Amino acid sequence: MSIHNRCHTDQLFKNQIGFGVTTDLSMPHSIGDTNQARSQTMSMDFLTKNRIVKSGFVRIRRRIQDLSPAERARAKEDHAAVAARFPFLAEDAFAKAAADAENRLNESHAHYIANVGHPVHAASIELAVFMDVICNGLNPTRVADLGSGFTSFVVRSFAKGSTSGVDVSSVDDHPEWLQKTKDYLTGKDVSAQNVLLWDEFSGSDPAPFDLVLHDMGMMDFRAQTLERVLQLTRPGGVVILDDMHKPEYRTFALQTLEQKGLEHYSLRALTHDNLTRYAYLVIT
Ligand SMILES: C[S@@+](CC[C@H](N)C(=O)[O-])C[C@H]1O[C@@H](n2cnc3c(N)ncnc32)[C@H](O)[C@@H]1O
Repeated sequence: MSIHNRCHTDQLFKNQIGFGVTTDLSMPHSIGDTNQARSQTMSMDFLTKNRIVKSGFVRIRRRIQDLSPAERARAKEDHAAVAARFPFLAEDAFAKAAADAENRLNESHAHYIANVGHPVHAASIELAVFMDVICNGLNPTRVADLGSGFTSFVVRSFAKGSTSGVDVSSVDDHPEWLQKTKDYLTGKDVSAQNVLLWDEFSGSDPAPFDLVLHDMGMMDFRAQTLERVLQLTRPGGVVILDDMHKPEYRTFALQTLEQKGLEHYSLRALTHDNLTRYAYLVIT
C-alpha cells in the first residue's frame, strides 16, 4: 500500500466515486456537466457518511475489545511481574520517570501529530514516554526502532544525551515514510544516520541489539516479520511489541512467544492510550 493510500484516505474518498472510477473534479461546463457534478457531490456525501459510519463502528468495536476481562486482569499481574524484573517500571519509579519524560516530549509529540504523522499512525505519547523510560532504565548501547517516526526521535534523543555511545537503527518498510523520518530527525537536530529500509536492514545481518521496538508497517507485515524481529536481540535483550490491543495480532504474537518459550509481559498498565492501543515486553 502506498503512503498516499495510508495517509490520504480522505483525498481518496474525494477523488473516487463508485467502484474505483476516478473522476475529474474540475468545474462543470454545461447543464449535463452540472447534473453530473451534482450526482458526484451526492456520491461523495454518501461515501463520506459511509466512511464516518464505518470508522464509528471500528471505534465501538475497539472499545468493546478493550473491555476484555482477561487482558485487564493480565495487565495488573504482568505489571507487578515486569516491575519485579525491572524495578524502574514499578509504579512510583515509573510515574516519576514518565512525568519527566512527558515534560520533555509533550511539545514535540503534539507538534509531530499535528504536522508530520497522523495520531492514528504515530506512536502515542504513552508509548513515546515508555520508550524514553526504558532507554534510560536499561541503558542499551544498540537499539533498533522498527517503524520509523516519532519513536525514532525519542530513541535518538536518548542516544544524543548518552555518554556511552549508543548505536540506533530506525527502520521502515516504506521508502517515502522513511524519508519523512529522515527529514524530521534532521530538523530536530538528532542523528539521521542508519535510517534504513527493512529489506536492507534485515539482509545486512546486523549485530545483536539490546532493545528493539516492533511497530513497523501494517499488521500483516508486522506478523510476517515477527519471527525475524525476535532474532534481532542478544540473549536477555528486550523487544517491545506495540499494537497488542488488536486481538488477531495479539493471539498470533502470543502463540509465537509461547512456542519459542520467551518470557513476555503485558505493558497495558503502562502504555494504554486513548485509542486503546498498548504494548507487550518480551525478553529474548
Ligand atoms: C504505527 S506506524 C509507526 C509509528 C512510529 N513508530 C512512530 O513513532 O511514529 C506503522 C507504519 O506506518 C507508517 N506510518 C507512520 N506514520 C504514518 C502516517 N502518519 N501515515 C501513514 N503511515 C504512517 C510507517 O510505514 C510505519 O512503519
